[in-house]
Amino acid sequence: MPLEMHTSPQVPSTTQIAATVPLGLDDYGDPVTYAEERRRLFSPARGPLYVGHDALLPTGRAHVRADGDDRVLLTRTACGELRAFANVCSHALRPIVTDDTVLTGSCVTCPFHHWSFQLDGELIGGRSMSFTEDERARLGLRPFPTTSWRGAHFSGDAAIGPSFRDDLDRVEDAFAAHGVADWLDFSDWVVVAEEDEAYRGDWKTFLEVYGDCYHVPPYHAGLASFADCASLEWVFGEAMHLQFVHLSRQAGRRSAAYAAWVEGLGDYHAARGERGSELAVVWSAFYPNVMLEFYNGLRVISVVIPTGPESYVNRVHYLVPRDMEELVPGLVQVILDAYGETAVQDRVLNESRYDGVVVARELDLGIEPYHPNLTGPAPELGTLHFHRWWRAEMGRRHPAARAGRPVSLSEFRPRNT
Ligand code: FES
Ligand SMILES: [Fe+2]
Repeated sequence: MPLEMHTSPQVPSTTQIAATVPLGLDDYGDPVTYAEERRRLFSPARGPLYVGHDALLPTGRAHVRADGDDRVLLTRTACGELRAFANVCSHALRPIVTDDTVLTGSCVTCPFHHWSFQLDGELIGGRSMSFTEDERARLGLRPFPTTSWRGAHFSGDAAIGPSFRDDLDRVEDAFAAHGVADWLDFSDWVVVAEEDEAYRGDWKTFLEVYGDCYHVPPYHAGLASFADCASLEWVFGEAMHLQFVHLSRQAGRRSAAYAAWVEGLGDYHAARGERGSELAVVWSAFYPNVMLEFYNGLRVISVVIPTGPESYVNRVHYLVPRDMEELVPGLVQVILDAYGETAVQDRVLNESRYDGVVVARELDLGIEPYHPNLTGPAPELGTLHFHRWWRAEMGRRHPAARAGRPVSLSEFRPRNT
């Protein structure tokens, strides 16, 4: 059946994605483009923009800065609802919360002159000041609409719109079709480590590498012997992609850490009296910047935070099943070590891509900025989908989409139901 039969009008077909012209050299590291990206792509008012996950957030009445965006303040109300606001005080526009400390209690108090707000954003009052009803109504915290899905929270008008809902439904359908609908449930998973990793380069190169399975066999010996990239299956939404990859028959043997991961997983599932999935991992990306990684035995919440045209931070939280350490002592560290082995390699991939862009620009080489591999299971199709999305959101459609790019559609296993 032609692949296009599976796609909604909003979601481009794989043929359309394959015809995307990759971003140009001038789209990277440019201050004007970066300012435009901040306004268009990283807008908590427009969205959908990831702002946090229940696994990382307080459960009782509290407020905290968003995960991944300093400009957003999150509150948890008495009834458990999560709300998002601009992290800007209505007195004199200073950020109210300036670090990641969770502040418990029933109100938000700005540290500078002690104006305070209800957890629903309403102004309570300001020190030594009185307010008319009209002023009180005007001076509340500025709210953003939010949607919550599987513990993840997204802000912005588009987050509550139909196309994002369609994307989330598509994710649900794809996980169910692979028999791992329960992998979307984070309730029995606990955070065991977190880190902020600073990178040099344009933030987009991180999403490019994440949407590229082509580099895994040659560059990640350990990961490639754990996740069999020949089994790659793509799923695309309007602003997301998924990669389903099966466990490799090599059982991680090209890396001591990955081999121990596979062996420990067997012990873990045996201890629970269950049969483990044949999947090694589902890599999901919700554009612009959040990646939820569902490994067999590990969850990773990774958000790329641009800090300038040529710098960004990858904020990572690692989660494992609550009973893993008790059932298989030492397995948690084994898994973190294996993941870390691959992450060190990916840093080189991410930063070298940007280095090459800079050199090509300086030397005026006049070569194609990216020539993706779209043969077989099209291991770099995710990169092109990200480029396509970026062009559309930035209003920079390329006039000459490449026609007839060779791509073997018969080898895709579409799940865009
Ligand atoms: S800036 Fe917040 S109370 Fe003054
Ligand atoms: Fe990688």
